Amino acid sequence: MALPPSPPRRPRRLLLLLLLLLLCGASALSLGVLFLAGGAHEALLSRSLPYLLPPSRGRPFSPSSCAPLLPSAEAFLLAPAGDPCALRTPFLLVLVASAPDHAARRQAVRDTWGGVLWAGGRPTRTLFALGVPSEPSQQAALEREAARHGDLLQGRFLDTYANLTLKTLALLGWAATCCPGASFVVKADDDVFLNLPALARHLGALPSPPPPYLGRIHWWVRPNRDPRSRHHLPVPLYPGDAFPPYCSGTAYVLSGEAVPALLGAARHVPLVPLEDVFVGLCARQAGLAPLHLPHMAGSEHFPPDACCYREVLFSVHGVVPAEMVAVWEEVGTHEGACSAWQRALGLVRCKALAWLAA
Ligand SMILES: *[C@@H]1O[C@H](CO)[C@@H](O)[C@H](O)[C@H]1NC(C)=O
Repeated sequence: MALPPSPPRRPRRLLLLLLLLLLCGASALSLGVLFLAGGAHEALLSRSLPYLLPPSRGRPFSPSSCAPLLPSAEAFLLAPAGDPCALRTPFLLVLVASAPDHAARRQAVRDTWGGVLWAGGRPTRTLFALGVPSEPSQQAALEREAARHGDLLQGRFLDTYANLTLKTLALLGWAATCCPGASFVVKADDDVFLNLPALARHLGALPSPPPPYLGRIHWWVRPNRDPRSRHHLPVPLYPGDAFPPYCSGTAYVLSGEAVPALLGAARHVPLVPLEDVFVGLCARQAGLAPLHLPHMAGSEHFPPDACCYREVLFSVHGVVPAEMVAVWEEVGTHEGACSAWQRALGLVRCKALAWLAA
């Protein structure tokens, strides 16, 4: 019996090898480009740091190498009116990261959860942090908004997605300098619905000293190496394989004592342009362990439901202004928002609703 002719394997293998080599060459080239781009990016970020870093400049051997990074007086173009923490030290100081052209989102927050001065029987205060608009004509509108509401904190840096880490450094620096007595500082995005009464009650019931860093924890997240992504992180800026656990930037909580500790650690942490990862890196550097709060939604959206928004969840992400106002009105009119069985199911029911709505 004759054997069938064997297929011409070798040439095909050679072709494959060639293709592989070509691909490797291309990726090596793009890695080189990445390297350069990464360095430029870091330089860009550090150029705006002098606004936040005047004390340490020229004093590299100062014994305060873990002193908090505090903003200078010139670091802010607009600051909250009066002294928001003098009259009554807030239990919860909420700093909402916003953008110059997000006036509608800020107004929705003011008209709803952010407009209250007491939550769960404890004083709270909500302020907005932003940078400099790329369109200079927008500055006048911001100044009018600040004069009217007195709740804007504007840092002297260009308000761009890549500068969010600077925004966080600025708002934490302001909290440490101007509101050092706050029991907790909450950083939230301007499309987040915060359930301040439930959060305040939860935090108020924690043993003392309270956990320093709380939120929805992301575990073992790998850096995004795709240069087209807005979450892209070049290898030279962060060579590691994965980030340490960090709390979702949509909303996280820091104890008052944790804020200066984080700002001290920030001197030794690369300025990665992902603000929540940056805070996680600072927390690890400062030896502060994050605590998982399952009732913080992270980046998940939950459909409007009075029981979930009023009693179960502490934060919900991706809430547009109209929905924010509607759910606030709905929540306000429901005294006992959850029925007995809804309360018993709690988070499971809310997750099921989110899953059904997705
Ligand atoms: C960050 O802000 C600084 C200071 O305004 C600015 O020079 C820089 O271009 C901004 N960086 C990015 C990446 O937008």
